[in-house]
Amino acid sequence: MHTRRSVLPKPTTAPSIQNLFLIHSILLFFTKTGSLKTRLMPQDRKEFIKQAGAGLVLAGLPGWARADNTTLMDIKDLEQGGAPDDEKFWKQVARKYYDIADDYINLENGYYGLQSKPVLQAYLKNIEYVNKESIRFARKVYPERSAAIKKELAAFLKVADEEIIITRNATEALNIAIQGYPFRNGDEVLLNQLDYFSMIECFRMLEKRGQIKVNAFDMPLQPTTEDEIVEIYRKNITDKTKVILLTHVSNINGLIVPVTKIAAMARQKGIDTITDSAHALGQIPFSLPELGADFVGMNLHKWIGNPIGAGVLYVKKERIKEMSSLFGDVANAADNINKLAHFGTTPFAVVMTIPDSLAFHRQLGVERITERLHYLKNYWITELKQDSKVEIVTPPAKELSCAIASFRIKDRKSPDIADALLKQHSILTTARSLGKEGCIRVTPSVYTSLEDMKKLVTGIRNLV
Ligand SMILES: Cc1ncc(COP(=O)(O)O)c(C=O)c1O
Repeated sequence: MHTRRSVLPKPTTAPSIQNLFLIHSILLFFTKTGSLKTRLMPQDRKEFIKQAGAGLVLAGLPGWARADNTTLMDIKDLEQGGAPDDEKFWKQVARKYYDIADDYINLENGYYGLQSKPVLQAYLKNIEYVNKESIRFARKVYPERSAAIKKELAAFLKVADEEIIITRNATEALNIAIQGYPFRNGDEVLLNQLDYFSMIECFRMLEKRGQIKVNAFDMPLQPTTEDEIVEIYRKNITDKTKVILLTHVSNINGLIVPVTKIAAMARQKGIDTITDSAHALGQIPFSLPELGADFVGMNLHKWIGNPIGAGVLYVKKERIKEMSSLFGDVANAADNINKLAHFGTTPFAVVMTIPDSLAFHRQLGVERITERLHYLKNYWITELKQDSKVEIVTPPAKELSCAIASFRIKDRKSPDIADALLKQHSILTTARSLGKEGCIRVTPSVYTSLEDMKKLVTGIRNLV
């Protein structure tokens, strides 16, 4: 018989006595050497013990990375400022926590977010661990481990873990919601040109199959208030509208729609919303339960900074039983959300890194992140809106846009402008389809400096 000692992490759900003893010894060591004392405030110390315990239990060896502080930000850094215009603070964040290519300026962070160094480190450890432990890990450890990670993610989102599934991206999450929704013949779906093309494609596909009718309207590019947006949706509702697609933050011009208000208005009329929060999670603060949206798709690899390959679908508990599975499943009960998650082999290491990316994001703080992003966006659009040849196609107000904003230049093709910015100024942006002229999308991130934005302004001025 095989007698080798197992190296599998303990399949427990609470820190064991041995683990607590180990944490205590480590705390004692760091406290004696003084290094932990300077790093952790009393509240943080409690959090540290909690996370260290969770790390040991949840993640076994790879999760341990968080306990020795390598995957958390240094508290000292966070105590030293962090106002939106505090360049010293943000430069330090960029330098210390991100490995950024220095031969171009990346203003295309709307595609996906860089992993911070600590998250990347945890991810690499997870990859090695999964590869070495292999199928024994996948069969014997992962089920319990992924359930614990799902719990942690649900707590982060402030919903029950029975209401979420971890998907590979937002496209998958939203396809499950859209194709699983209980449409009846004659139902209409309301959407507009600022929604994400893949979700529009999905609804158009259902329309082609004769299952629904798509009712598309043109959203003004620069509404001035949230209430104006609510009225636009209300005006376009027909007596056949069953679902409104709500793109929380548009990938085209960055418009933020007031999901809570629209969902409440729609609910009064018996209309559901399917909400695409791919760009919202991590970029702007919001509370998932307070959105009042029953079906929400999100991404973890954009603004949470997880390795690529992780999204989330939230379905309100009482709505699950109405949903059909996109991936065949008859084993799960009708009201069990797992019936929507029958996708096969999972990118294990990506999922296992979720606690680390959440921890890093939580430490930097969504409020601090959102204020900084708004500040960077505001800088360049305020500078350029004075130029008669530049048209900004994003409303500037804080509640209507955050990091993402777009522009176009009179009589010039948007892809040509984006190309010229890259070739002549080493600035990466992206051209997006929007009407005849299109637009150029600019997306800074937390590692972007004000200097970068100044170079963008100079670059665009040189092109007009
Ligand atoms: C608004 C919006 N929704 C959904 C998605 C899809 O995200 P993913 O490609 O990660 O599935 C994107 C991607 O950019 C997006 O911008």
